[in-house]
Amino acid sequence: MDSILVTGNGPLNGDIHIAGAKNACLTLMPATLLSEEPLTLTNAPRLSDIRTMTLLLQSLGCEVSSLQDGKVIAMSSHALTSQRAEYDIVRKMRASILVLGPLLARYGHAEVSLPGGCAIGARPVDLHLKVMEAMGAEMDLRDGYVHAKAPGGLKGGTFEFPFVSVGATENALMAASLAKGTTVLKNAAREPEIVDLVHCLRRMGAQIEGEGTPTITIQGVDRLGGATHGVVTDRIELGTYMLAPAICGGEVTCLGGRIDLLAAFCEKLDAAGISVTENERGLTVARKNGRVKAVDVVTEPFPGFPTDLQAQMMALMCTAEGTSVLEEKIFENRFMHAPELTRMGARIDVHGGHATVHGVERLKGAPVMATDLRASVSLILAGLAAEGETIVNRVYHLDRGYENVEQKLSALGAKIERIQGQ
Ligand code: UD1
Repeated sequence: MDSILVTGNGPLNGDIHIAGAKNACLTLMPATLLSEEPLTLTNAPRLSDIRTMTLLLQSLGCEVSSLQDGKVIAMSSHALTSQRAEYDIVRKMRASILVLGPLLARYGHAEVSLPGGCAIGARPVDLHLKVMEAMGAEMDLRDGYVHAKAPGGLKGGTFEFPFVSVGATENALMAASLAKGTTVLKNAAREPEIVDLVHCLRRMGAQIEGEGTPTITIQGVDRLGGATHGVVTDRIELGTYMLAPAICGGEVTCLGGRIDLLAAFCEKLDAAGISVTENERGLTVARKNGRVKAVDVVTEPFPGFPTDLQAQMMALMCTAEGTSVLEEKIFENRFMHAPELTRMGARIDVHGGHATVHGVERLKGAPVMATDLRASVSLILAGLAAEGETIVNRVYHLDRGYENVEQKLSALGAKIERIQGQ
């Protein structure tokens, strides 16, 4: 298994390119299953999760080609051979459940293994199943698989999510696009990735209104066509790299960055004393003098502070002046990075869904273990600002969600290298 060696090395300066969003791409790819005609995605990120989704789609008989060094994904689902998503692929990635809605809508049946994914809490899929039931599907859980049937096709209905779920909203949007009649989704997710999915579905011929608001209305159509769609900027990669100069000092421009993708996060950076300015090239982030100030953070669905940036924000707060409280409201058990940061000299107390971080002047390098995708990058950020060497082990998590981390950070002046495992 590979590890990453980071040596704390002073301020970072320069430009960094932000890739297309992993989480958008992972829902845009299954949208190909809705149509016989080709769907092509541009600005795709090059990540292991995208390769896993490629394998899953291919196992269903979808033709998937990776073009332009992986930045373009061309898909065709004109002759699918299977409606069963096998455990061996699904267990690697929770987003695999997103094939359920499209398969059920187009074929009237689907079998999908119950997913695995990052170890950040129980993460059930009950809402995905309930919203399909509201559209007339019959669900049966057997042998670790969801067996879904809608022999006469899915029918529109009204469904109010008891709490916001990004994935269940995406599954519902895709399924409802081919259902008979009108579907109204209430308390729907409003994330930029949802808006991006709707833009793509609309290009394919879907009739959808209200994306980006809590109520989305879908008028089902008989068939969807092909499309070419550019994947939205990855706001989580953006926020992660915005934190690099915030932690280390310096000035970095994140090319293609936009404040509207991360308004709540930018407000917190401002309160911490970090300057963020939007310009025609993207977002320029600078920390010129002194320590950052401690700020409290509560994670919430969009437009709130994203849970996927909580670990990285904690790395920043470790060396802030004062005490901050980070409250995790989306996933239980999402503080596994806290004990690792403590190994680097951070002072963190975790009580249930709260982490209290008492800022210290400087962290010290140490061997640490990446426990999930976002935790792994938070340890790299912490290592960049620490004294001495930090070795982050188990970085396969990192490769699921960040392309070329070492190259991108090295280009800003960071001392970071990958150590190939045996
Ligand atoms: C997506 C993102 C993930 C992000 C999360 C929250 C992808 C591929 N992943 O995950 O990076 O952290 O949104 O912004 O886009 N829940 C249920 N039952 C369900 C579905 C969800 O109880 O059927 C719970 C989850 O355990 C969690 C909460 O609802 O506590 C929100 O999860 P959800 O928004 O569905 O996250 P994902 O779509 O899995």
